[in-house]
Amino acid sequence: MKVQKVVDDIYRLAVNIEDENYLFEGIWPIPNGISINSYLIKGEKNVLIDLTQDIMDFPKAIAEQMEDASLTVEDIDIIVVNHMEPDHSGWLREFCKKNSKGVIYCTKKAIPLLQAFGDVPPERAIAITDGMTLEIGDYELQFFDTPNIHWPETMMTYEKKRGILFACDAFGSYGKVEDDTIFDDQLSQEKHQFFEKEALRYYANIVATFSPFVLKGLTKLSGLDIKVICPSHGIIWRDNPGVIIDHYKRYAEYSKGPAEREVTLVCSSMYGNTKSMMNLVVETLKKRQIPVHVYQVPGDDIGYILASAWKSAGLIFGMPTYEYKVFPPMSHVIEELLVKKVTNKKVFRYGSYGWVGGAQRDFQSKIEKSGWDLLSFYEWQGAPTEEDKENMVKALDSYCDELIKFTE
Ligand SMILES: Cc1cc2nc3c(=O)[nH]c(=O)nc-3n(C[C@H](O)[C@H](O)[C@H](O)COP(=O)(O)O)c2cc1C
Ligand SMILES: [Fe+2]
Ligand SMILES: [Fe+2]
Repeated sequence: MKVQKVVDDIYRLAVNIEDENYLFEGIWPIPNGISINSYLIKGEKNVLIDLTQDIMDFPKAIAEQMEDASLTVEDIDIIVVNHMEPDHSGWLREFCKKNSKGVIYCTKKAIPLLQAFGDVPPERAIAITDGMTLEIGDYELQFFDTPNIHWPETMMTYEKKRGILFACDAFGSYGKVEDDTIFDDQLSQEKHQFFEKEALRYYANIVATFSPFVLKGLTKLSGLDIKVICPSHGIIWRDNPGVIIDHYKRYAEYSKGPAEREVTLVCSSMYGNTKSMMNLVVETLKKRQIPVHVYQVPGDDIGYILASAWKSAGLIFGMPTYEYKVFPPMSHVIEELLVKKVTNKKVFRYGSYGWVGGAQRDFQSKIEKSGWDLLSFYEWQGAPTEEDKENMVKALDSYCDELIKFTE
């Protein structure tokens, strides 16, 4: 990728992870890639905001982009570390070996992490205080503590004179960024839809757990005149930053419920008896005009299920009993949804058993503290009969009534 001017002497330096088999954070599929962005301010003092991950040739690529902006690693006077996660700090160890003069600005909580992750001594760092400003020639940086968006030591950096927010992981998204479409106003309608989907999946995978902190952060930032948002992943919002702010607000508020009037249906089955109800569930919901997103496990990746579940006010699980418990691939799904604090959902569960059941009891105990409202469930022995199907439709119809009321 090329170095790109944001405004005046502020530049974006970026790389894309393009390896289709790469798992972000070691877990999330990114078939459409992801960009990792750094920002450079050239001036009386040269500032680098966020570094990059130390994988592939990323440090070299960023160093070359700096050179295209007529600077070298040694020329950097100030390194702003908004967040110590290795996708932005991995290069720090080598960077600081090459550059001995750069002063690091980060939060107090980040200082021990500099040492732990990058072998960088605390003497090289200045701990910011919330709202503190730093004047550098024609630029004025202001730092804000925004803990837990995404790690506990996260902060954001705001360039006051131009209203530019270097937002770190907030307002970011999956999806690789092309050199000719780095700004929101350069994107086609289709590309905007692509990034919106990728932003939701990124949010659900990476940020969701910390939604109460996102809401706090948004309140804190609401007093700023934000003209441009420069996130650490994804496109730059200079035409209408309100779009991505609104998306993030909506995503964070899904945690308080209700989310959208949609259902995420996760199906699993060993021998097809539970699966044989899948179409009936889909048809019944469609008749009630409730959009339904269908996933099957094993097979479909949890990263996608999570994004869909985050946005849906309703969750329906189809799973048989397995050794007196929930079918294991579904246990994994439920566990991951709970880790990500997917909550305030209206839930229905169905499934087949062979002997005396057990999945329903296990399911209920698993979701005891989830904040999920299990409206009803339906179980049957072996293959479903016509009567089972009629009972399922009745149970689902009253589930839909409740879901509609919940999302009114
Ligand atoms: C490995 C295995 C474990 C099972 N464990 C239980 C069990 O603990 N309790 C039960 O009632 N049925 C159990 N069953 C029976 C299944 O729940 C039953 O065959 C059911 O119809 C499977 O639904 P499916 O066709 O959707 O996979 C088990 C079946 C298998 C193959
Ligand atoms: Fe992060
Ligand atoms: Fe990140």
